[in-house]
Amino acid sequence: MNIIWHSKSKQYHLYNDKISYILGVSPVGELEGIYFGKKVHDKEDFSYVEYRYMLPNVAVDPDTESYSCELNRQEYPSFGTTDFGTEAFDIELPNGSRVSSFTYKEHRIYKGKESLKGLPATYASEDEAMTLEVTLEDEVARMMLILTYTIFDRYPVVTRHATFINNASDVTKLRKALSVCLDLPDQGYQWMQFSGAWARERIPQIKDLSSGSVLIESKRGVSSANQNPFVILKRLETDEFNGEAIGFSFVYSGNFVAQAECDTFGRTRMLMGINPDRFTWPLEKGERFETPEVVIAMTDRGLNDLSQTYHRLYNNNLVRGKWKNQPRPILINNWEATFMDFTEERILSIAEKAKKAGVELFVLDDGWFGERNDDFAGLGDWIENPEKLPQGMKGLARKMNAMGLKFGFWIEPEMVNPDSNLFRRHPDWALSTPGRKASLGRHQMVLDYSREEVVDYIYGMLKKVIADAPISYIKWDMNRSLTEVYSTALPPEQQGMVYHKYVLGVYSLYERLRQDYPDILFESCSSGGNRFDAGMLYYAPQAWCSDNTDSIDRVRIQYGTSYGYPISSIGAHVSAVPNQQTGRNVPISTRANVAYFGTFGYELDLNHITDEEFEEVKEQIAFMKANRELLQFGRFYRLRSPFEKDQAAWIVVSEDGKRAIFGLYCMKSNVNMLPGFLKLAGLKDDLLYKLGEGEYYGDELMNLGVPIGKLGSGGLTTGQDFISYVELLEAD
Ligand code: GLA
Repeated sequence: MNIIWHSKSKQYHLYNDKISYILGVSPVGELEGIYFGKKVHDKEDFSYVEYRYMLPNVAVDPDTESYSCELNRQEYPSFGTTDFGTEAFDIELPNGSRVSSFTYKEHRIYKGKESLKGLPATYASEDEAMTLEVTLEDEVARMMLILTYTIFDRYPVVTRHATFINNASDVTKLRKALSVCLDLPDQGYQWMQFSGAWARERIPQIKDLSSGSVLIESKRGVSSANQNPFVILKRLETDEFNGEAIGFSFVYSGNFVAQAECDTFGRTRMLMGINPDRFTWPLEKGERFETPEVVIAMTDRGLNDLSQTYHRLYNNNLVRGKWKNQPRPILINNWEATFMDFTEERILSIAEKAKKAGVELFVLDDGWFGERNDDFAGLGDWIENPEKLPQGMKGLARKMNAMGLKFGFWIEPEMVNPDSNLFRRHPDWALSTPGRKASLGRHQMVLDYSREEVVDYIYGMLKKVIADAPISYIKWDMNRSLTEVYSTALPPEQQGMVYHKYVLGVYSLYERLRQDYPDILFESCSSGGNRFDAGMLYYAPQAWCSDNTDSIDRVRIQYGTSYGYPISSIGAHVSAVPNQQTGRNVPISTRANVAYFGTFGYELDLNHITDEEFEEVKEQIAFMKANRELLQFGRFYRLRSPFEKDQAAWIVVSEDGKRAIFGLYCMKSNVNMLPGFLKLAGLKDDLLYKLGEGEYYGDELMNLGVPIGKLGSGGLTTGQDFISYVELLEAD
């Protein structure tokens, strides 16, 4: 890994063993892109990639009389001079002008990576990464712009973000400040996005690029289940095992935009950052604005390789603290078993049975506080309900501990019900626009986290519940989108700051709680997977993946999620049948076989299953305990897509290749078909693996494939919807 500055050509070359990122100072002083891709030799000068043509209808710089930003790749383009593509930023000067030109001033190259203030970001030691900061200046606007690039040593990854500093005495308005622009020299890409809705999150969709833009965004205040802030540009021929692809992952949890624009000259411009819609950030003299980070990764070996890069990077350089690379406790959550209708006695009876099965952690879900007996009331009143918890959280936690279980609970700290003491005391603490109706979502409103005193107050309430109680885990939920966004605490000219300030408020509360309680395992949640993004993983290493716990749907959701996020982050539980979301009756073996490829836990009352099923649950837990490190942190490959076939399959392989576990799922049976063979991946050719009663070489399993008909009691043959196999492979 290195970052070289070629002072004559004014070019930078960031490279490691796998990739090169080359950029330079253009003839007009702005930053231009030269190359991003597989590693190439270093050279003093790559300026042969520059175009100097006087084409009809193309505007050129008046000094050079031949350089046009439109014809050359830009690193962080502005609008209003010679580039007519979508801009990366937009500033409005006090005189109303929105034209700008930031030109090279200086740079800094250093080992390691600095953190972003108040924002989540990947981190790295001096051996793990190097950083380039290029400072540019707009002398007319009296503003500075710092573009920051970090290259990682071990990964084909470059992270980027931008910082604006206002040195003028007047206020300058930042109307758009994306994190990244990457101009690519051709248009031979397909765009892959991960879209959905509640209960059907992160379903991959592929679109061909053609003249014009493909754009996804969130305007909900959260990253959203509708569009995930993760996008892949892949070559047409790229599949899971071969071909080029570039990933763009936004380390942010609020409104975002991701756009690929194909221009008339055959190039692709990729942009990603905070959604400029409803965003205006006034900068006073001396103030700065730092954008969140985008993690750009590339591969020339297929989508599995790209995903593995994100998995490893996020496990090693995004997740922090005690739970970094730690196998996760097997938990039981009472939500689907009781909803809000429970007594301490009922909770303890669920816990006792779970403990007998080998569960390690009990999670008390919604309904323990205030007047929270249904979803019409109580949010905001984070005080234990004495009827449900006679000795408070402390009392229940201690009883759990005495039973040998760790204990944690559910919160939804960003919300308030109009029917709550908090709202009655502080109606202005909820987001709402003066004189207008406030829309409700699940009968609740969103607290104005752009206000410090609101965040402080909730922090104080939560601390009282957590203090003295032995709490090991917190599930932090967020169950509605933001509407009528307006803060009564801010003047009119600062209303465009509210969405982003809200996210900063959420991050600040997470950070305070994390620092006060470094051992607590946080799991984020937002009606399931409505805020499953890299930003959240910085604070909460795992996220409830979806409220849809039907394991057949879950195969699809977890499969889609695995493209951008590690298996260790995917909250997955075994729940009761018929499934509460889909009504499906899936055998308990398949329910576990899906949840193993996640954090694993139960979301039902084990007192209500049969004795045979309970014995099976004990075995499932023993299996997970023995293999969770491999399942959660092994190298994960998607093998068979549930979006293409009636069967799905995946595998995790240990670093040394000696142990592996694959899962094969029948989503829908096909009668009178031969069972076929499942080709595995990631194994060592020469190792002899034990699989069930047989022994097979790695190259056999990867090329002939596992004979599916020999699995279990005859394999996937006829008429058995929803059966599945999870098999362990071991070699000496
Ligand atoms: C959301 C979550 C669920 C559960 C409920 C509680 O829907 O996604 O897991 O916690 O809230 O109200």
